[in-house]
Amino acid sequence: MAIRVVTELREMQKIADDLRASGKRIGVVPTMGFLHEGHLSLMRIARKHSDFVITTLFVNPTQFGPKEDFARYPRDFERDRRLAEEAGSDVLFMPTTEDIYPAGYATFVNVEGITDLLEGKSRPGHFRGVATVVAKLFNITKPHVAVFGQKDAQQAAVIRQMTRDLNFDIQIIVAPIVREADGLAMSSRNSYLSSQQRKEAVVLFESLRLAEKRIAEGVVESSAMREEMARHMTKFSAGEIDYISIADHETLSELDQMSKGKTVLISMAVRFGTTRLIDNIVVKV
Ligand code: PAJ
Repeated sequence: MAIRVVTELREMQKIADDLRASGKRIGVVPTMGFLHEGHLSLMRIARKHSDFVITTLFVNPTQFGPKEDFARYPRDFERDRRLAEEAGSDVLFMPTTEDIYPAGYATFVNVEGITDLLEGKSRPGHFRGVATVVAKLFNITKPHVAVFGQKDAQQAAVIRQMTRDLNFDIQIIVAPIVREADGLAMSSRNSYLSSQQRKEAVVLFESLRLAEKRIAEGVVESSAMREEMARHMTKFSAGEIDYISIADHETLSELDQMSKGKTVLISMAVRFGTTRLIDNIVVKV
């Protein structure tokens, strides 16, 4: 069936109400578009867990900092529509900025604690924008299940926390990271990279694999491992490291020691010119 493109909030809510009234299970996949295989994998997972898949496409201004790439964020509507349809989405919901944030808009969702760390520390206000728009998208699409990617591990944790705290009756699924053949995590922002930067960007995944290997060999000191990862990245790329984190996978608080039995989230943000890339891996020690 051809995908239905919906832009009106009321129309989207009516579709959701009708689906719910007829006993259908709704799955939602929030995106900012410029779709790639990572996004499409979320749609396929949503398909498995629901009868009707709504993909949302909205480049959310409130989650971008003043010096970030909101204005130049890549957009390709025709391609996105085709890809979302091929991946089994039933509706592509594309609200306008004016409808999501009309004049006089004043309500924001602040998830405390975990948003102070990692991405939240480097990008103040980012998660306030994410939590706010996702809460709004939940209220507009009325899903039973929502699918997010492990690529944005902290975002997934923030959404889980918000869903719990605000009693959204929605199952949150977090899907594995989809990578390019050389290991680079897929991202809409990869399109910003020059061909040289694109080649070098594989150092993120390489250093995560290196960390995994060191853990298997019994390395327990986080600082030594962070240093080795940084050395690898600076040796083989011109990337500037924003952070390398070795943290408890649930609380996201930094660990000095990786003790046996712990599950750690190793994550990083690295800048190639003006492009900021993130990646992560979860390892059971
Ligand atoms: P966006 O960056 O478009 O990502 C949409 C979803 O796709 C997120 O859940 C993200 O984690 C997931 N994703 C991105 N790259 C992936 C990859 N390589 N493998 C698996 N999943 C991947 O994240 C956002 O948009 C926004 O913050 C949003 C949640 C839509 C709120 O505005």
